[in-house]
Amino acid sequence: MDLGRRRMLQLSAVAAATPLVAGCGTDGPTVTVDTSLPNGPFGAESTAEEVTAGMDLAGQTVLVTGCNSGLGYETLRVLALRGAHVIGTGRTLEKAAQACASVEGKATPVALELSSFQSAVDCAAQLQAQNLLPNVVICNAGINTFGELELVNGIEKMFVVNHLGHFVLINHLLPALRAAGSARIVHVGSRSAYTGAPAQGIDFDNLRGEGVFDAQQAYGRSKLANALFSLELSRRLQGTGVTSNVIHPGLVKTNIARTAPGWLRSAFDLFGGVIAKSPAQGAATQVYVATHPAIKGVSGAYFEDCNPVNVSGDHHIFDVPMAQRLWAVSEEMTAPYLQGA
Ligand SMILES: NC(=O)c1ccc[n+]([C@@H]2O[C@H](COP(=O)([O-])OP(=O)(O)OC[C@H]3O[C@@H](n4cnc5c(N)ncnc54)[C@H](OP(=O)(O)O)[C@@H]3O)[C@@H](O)[C@H]2O)c1
Repeated sequence: MDLGRRRMLQLSAVAAATPLVAGCGTDGPTVTVDTSLPNGPFGAESTAEEVTAGMDLAGQTVLVTGCNSGLGYETLRVLALRGAHVIGTGRTLEKAAQACASVEGKATPVALELSSFQSAVDCAAQLQAQNLLPNVVICNAGINTFGELELVNGIEKMFVVNHLGHFVLINHLLPALRAAGSARIVHVGSRSAYTGAPAQGIDFDNLRGEGVFDAQQAYGRSKLANALFSLELSRRLQGTGVTSNVIHPGLVKTNIARTAPGWLRSAFDLFGGVIAKSPAQGAATQVYVATHPAIKGVSGAYFEDCNPVNVSGDHHIFDVPMAQRLWAVSEEMTAPYLQGA
């Protein structure tokens, strides 16, 4: 295909799929590589296999949430291929078991339904009971509902699944991670954190559906919560050897649009291969941040296309007071499930 035609096709694809790619495209704030932190040779087209080429991850135990689909599945596959013992979670044990059984290497399935805080508690307890303690955790699972307001236990659903469920899980895993001496936590966020969240950042007075609901803003808010959770966690873990970073995988052709309106799903199915990364490319950044020796010790950073980046403009992804408030509100919302953490 000649370049002019390819470009035309890309532009019409972006136009058709605009509600889906908002926050994932190339518009909006300027993103520049943060040269004050270690940079690597990898970029937008690198794959998870490429960023781990030559690595032997034997001895590492990596927990990946949402291992049965999209980025989680590719992450599970590549980390197991490199010798890590991967604990893969799925909303049901069957889903996780099917994914774990389909990859080469050592993978153990565990059930984790993030809309249930009790499931997060049970997941951590099961790992403890089986002495399956991870030294790397990749908080990957997530949803974009696209539809009407849905509440789970009185709290907006994407905030619950994408943020609070992982908040409970990580709090229960922290003692083991600290004990590991050297450990990494990777949060799979999104560019939507700074292109799609409400202008004021986390709208704390609207987490229970009190105000206007806009599904894409609510998704952006949940992804901003991923970034702020990572930031506050990195602050609390300073000096412990445990790092916490957040990444944006890029726009990736996965099942994330499964609940989008039919026309949008069709546009993504049709044009996704042109405008989006493949799962192999999309998983590269989280796999790089979870494993690469070049960034050992880096914490509190935000990564895109396999490098730490700065983002121009008014946004809240590095807003420390907001991160501290989010931590306090998250504790309050999940208090009964944090006992013993
Ligand atoms: N794809 C993109 O363009 C893109 C862009 C930016 C950020 N992200 C982020 O990347 C992450 C992975 O998404 P993906 O693109 O790989 O999408 P995906 O193919 O839809 O995979 C999402 C995974 O999350 C799991 N999940 C959904 N709801 C859950 C719940 N209530 N409890 C536990 N697990 C649940 C899914 O399990 P089931 O299959 O059982 O539902 C699935 O394993 C998400 O955090 C997403 O926000 C994706």
